[in-house]
This record gives sequence, structure tokens and C-alpha cells, in this order.
Amino acid sequence: MFAYSYTQYGSSDVITQVTLPQPIPKPNEVLIRIFATTVSAGDWRARSLIMPKGLGLMGRLVFGLHGPRKPILGTEFSGVIEEIGINVTNYQIGDAVIGFPGAAFGAHAEFITMPADGKLTLKPDNIGFEHAAAIPFGATTAYDFLVNKAKLQQGETVLINGASGSVGSACVQIAKHLGAHVTAVCSGGNAEIVRGLGADHVIDYRTQDVIEPGIQYDVVADTVGTLPWTRAKHAIRDGGKMVLIAGITSDMVLGGFKARLAGKKMVGGVASEHRDILEAVVKLAAQGVLQPVIDRSYAFDDMKAAHAHVDTGHKKGNVVVTVTPHGRARSPVEKECQAMV
Ligand SMILES: NC(=O)c1ccc[n+]([C@@H]2O[C@H](COP(=O)([O-])OP(=O)(O)OC[C@H]3O[C@@H](n4cnc5c(N)ncnc54)[C@H](OP(=O)(O)O)[C@@H]3O)[C@@H](O)[C@H]2O)c1
Repeated sequence: MFAYSYTQYGSSDVITQVTLPQPIPKPNEVLIRIFATTVSAGDWRARSLIMPKGLGLMGRLVFGLHGPRKPILGTEFSGVIEEIGINVTNYQIGDAVIGFPGAAFGAHAEFITMPADGKLTLKPDNIGFEHAAAIPFGATTAYDFLVNKAKLQQGETVLINGASGSVGSACVQIAKHLGAHVTAVCSGGNAEIVRGLGADHVIDYRTQDVIEPGIQYDVVADTVGTLPWTRAKHAIRDGGKMVLIAGITSDMVLGGFKARLAGKKMVGGVASEHRDILEAVVKLAAQGVLQPVIDRSYAFDDMKAAHAHVDTGHKKGNVVVTVTPHGRARSPVEKECQAMV
């Protein structure tokens, strides 16, 4: 099979197309033919090893000390089950699925194997393969932080910094679904997109101060890392919460303590990657509550260009890569499924 691999950290140039043996599913695994994947902020971080200041060593410990531990990137995908292991009972060959290998990566390839009870779920018929691939990364992060960790409530006010990104655009939609009043921060050019997602008020960080004197929120969520606690605290009401999805190192380490001292709370850390969260967001997408924003779609052969676009730090929502079979005719089920992309 064709895949994209990297052996050293760096720019999009470190990605090369390689030919690898097609993986064989273990008894409890399924083999999936990938139809669409994305280049996510997770791929960017693992490939570039650009980490918040002071966390360089931590990055190497996570992604590989002397070079990448997981040579194939790709945190999410949609596709069709091609083979099942002998112990698998919950999927059948031909099932269309959405998968979230997340930190295990491996989706920048024509095939992937995953445990049948892993972060995998059936793709709803009313979601095309491209949109389906763009659901897991942003939406599970937004859901875990806003619903599970911050317990955002109906009627609360929330400020979302980075509202046009993959995580931010999902945060806006999930917060609106929960009944919150949403103030979204993005560049002016993306204001219409985030309004379309339901934002009640939009702040253009390029022309306005994000922290407006006298205005406080129940929850401030930072998906960019440009709202350090020293600034954000002024915008959080007493007892309110900071949701640190991206941030500076001192806030990641000491933020909880600093927030408690100020009579506020901070929730941070790493988003949980669980099948039940994936199922929850896919259900919301099937109901039309959550629609992944797609910035651009690239062909598999243009993977490098997709990475380069993500490297700008200004993608709108998600960057999708469609994966087509190389050098062979498509099977009838593939033709049918690809027609739905
Ligand atoms: N803690 C966790 O477990 C976890 C999980 C997933 C992701 N993350 C992190 O969350 C971050 C966001 O991920 P993502 O997938 O949403 O990335 P993304 O899609 O690349 O979004 C980044 C967004 O940041 C906005 N932005 C850039 N500079 C800005 C500024 N100065 N002020 C406000 N907004 C600015 C951009 O909007 P404009 O183009 O409008 O400027 C862009 O839409 C990444 O750092 C990622 O590593 C953390």
C-alpha cells in the first residue's frame, strides 16, 4: 500500500510517499481501506516538534527522542472495512466507518488496522466520507473539554479563542448546542464562518482587544495559546473557568494553582480519546448539530501541500486528504462509497 512517512522532524518537506506491506488484522482487529483523512494540528505538532516554550524535551519523549516513533501520521479517517479478524463480531466487511487513531496515528495510508472495540464507529449514511473524516480530532477535543471537563451549562457565557480552527469551530457548535451564549475570537476574514456556526458575537483579534474592559464570561476557552492566565483572568467571573486547550507552559504547569488563588478554576491537560466520545460527536453530526468545517481538500498525492497549508497556522476548520486506490480498478463497494465523498 502507499502511505506517507517521515523519519526526521521538520517542515512539510520531511514527508515522503512510501510503499509498505498492507497490514494484516489480528483476531480482534479490522482492516479498513481509508477513503479520506485529514492533516490535523496533532500531525503538525508531531511532525514539526514545535512545542510550547520549555516543553521541547517533553515533545521528544512523547513523539520519539531521536526521531519520530510513529512514522506514519494521520489522526483520523473515514473508510470501509475490507477484512475482519476471526474474533470480530461487531463489524462486517463493507461497513463504512469513522476512526480516530488519535495519538496512535497511522491514517496517512491506504489501509489501517484498528481493534474492533477501539475508537471506531459506523459512519452515518447522511455524512459523506470527507466530512466524516474531519469529525474526530476537533469535535472530540471540544466535547471532552466543554462537556466532560468544564461541564458548560445552558445559559452560561463562553469566550472561544481560535473559533475558526478545527477545535474552535467544534467548540462554537457544541457550546451553542448546550445553550451557551458564545463570543468567538478569530481573524475578521473568518467572522462569517463562525457566525454561521452559531456564534452570537465575534471579536476580530487583529483589530480588537480580546479582553474587553468590564466584560466577563463564565468560561474562557483558549484553543490557540494566545490568552495567558495573566490576561484571561480579567475576563473570567469569580468562580468561572478557564479551559486551557492550548497555552503557555507556565499556565499548563501552574495554571490550576493560579486560578484557585484567584477564586476561579482552570481545566486543562490532554483531551481523552475514547470511543464513547467519538460516538457522541458522530451522533451530533448525524443530527446536523455539528458540521465539520472543511477548508480545503487535497488528493493523496498532494499530502505535502496539505501539510504546508496546515503549517500556516490559519486553516479554517479542517484540511481533508482524499485517498484513492493506486494503479488498480475500484471494487463496486468502493465506487459506491467514493461517489458519496
Ligand atoms: N489539549 C489537547 O488535548 C488538545 C487536543 C487537540 C488540539 N490541541 C491543540 O489545540 C490547538 C488548536 O488546534 P486546531 O486543530 O483547532 O488548530 P487549527 O485548526 O490550526 O486552528 C488554529 C486557529 O488559530 C487561529 N489563530 C491563529 N492565530 C491566532 C491569534 N493570534 N488569536 C486568535 N486565533 C488565532 C486561526 O484562526 P485565524 O485564521 O482566524 O487567525 C486558526 O483557525 C493546537 O495547538 C493543538 O495542538 C490540544
